[in-house]
Amino acid sequence: MLRSSLLAALVGCAFVLAAPTVNTDANEVVDDVAILNFALTLEHLENAFYTQCLATFDAKDFAKAGYPDWVRGRFEQIAMHEATHVRFLEGALGDKATKPCEYKFPCDDPRSFSAISMALETVGTSAYLGAAPLIENKSYLADAGSILATEARQAAWVSSAVLKGSAWDGPFETPLGATLVFSLASQFIVSCPASNPPLPVSIKPTLSVSVIDTSARSAKLTFDRSADNKQPLCLAYFTGLDVKFTDIKQKGDEYTTTVPANLQGTVYVAVVDCTNTKPTDMNTLTGATMLEFPFSSSAKNVA
Ligand SMILES: *[C@@H]1O[C@H](CO)[C@@H](O)[C@H](O)[C@H]1NC(C)=O
Repeated sequence: MLRSSLLAALVGCAFVLAAPTVNTDANEVVDDVAILNFALTLEHLENAFYTQCLATFDAKDFAKAGYPDWVRGRFEQIAMHEATHVRFLEGALGDKATKPCEYKFPCDDPRSFSAISMALETVGTSAYLGAAPLIENKSYLADAGSILATEARQAAWVSSAVLKGSAWDGPFETPLGATLVFSLASQFIVSCPASNPPLPVSIKPTLSVSVIDTSARSAKLTFDRSADNKQPLCLAYFTGLDVKFTDIKQKGDEYTTTVPANLQGTVYVAVVDCTNTKPTDMNTLTGATMLEFPFSSSAKNVA
């Protein structure tokens, strides 16, 4: 059952940002430096998130939110991991390293902080996984794999120990391409130094998803469609190594779809032209939204 669109509440502020320079030429070669800089872009963001938000709440705030003492301690360890990832990637990139941006995080209390942490760790894991096949140098690939595993453990800890959900989504983690990763991460970015190298992403309009009828699994989609796009549209669900599709029905400005049964855990969705093949940047119309499908400890794997 669809519980919540995890970041939906936060999506409102997306793309008021001064977008960083982007590289929209699909034919441009994405080399290891560009990939490592994309990873560093995300690590800078995570580093700023833990530094800024943990400085806002002390041990008492965590206790008031109902968390035992060790929760904040573990979050501090995660914060140190992210700072280390930043230094590590900066070391590998030398003077080509991209610089931190200015960020805004809606961490209003330790609970919203934990929810954003879970989302960032999950997206971070998907980002490393999506980039892995593009990394040429095996030594960088192994390093990226090491960071990926740590981010996945962190996501699992937040998701299970802190948020009391499942530590995993299923037998496969979900890879996500840079454009969709950036569409999720960029909602926290206010502006970036103009001197930063271009990112290997294209900028897509925001998608928000709200549930109209849980039992009928019908969802309302809100996004800007370009006037010259007349293709039938589908909602793509990125879940493990699979992508599922449902048809989008349009009535005037209203878009609806029927969410498939048997989705588990975190699922990324984006609006695409209906091709029923793995979406590319070209036929993807919107950025991604994260949906959460909690499942009980007695549930069977669906993948
Ligand atoms: C891969 O990167 C490492 C670390 O920078 C470097 O020492 C090595 O020469 C690179 N290998 C290739 C094949 O470029």
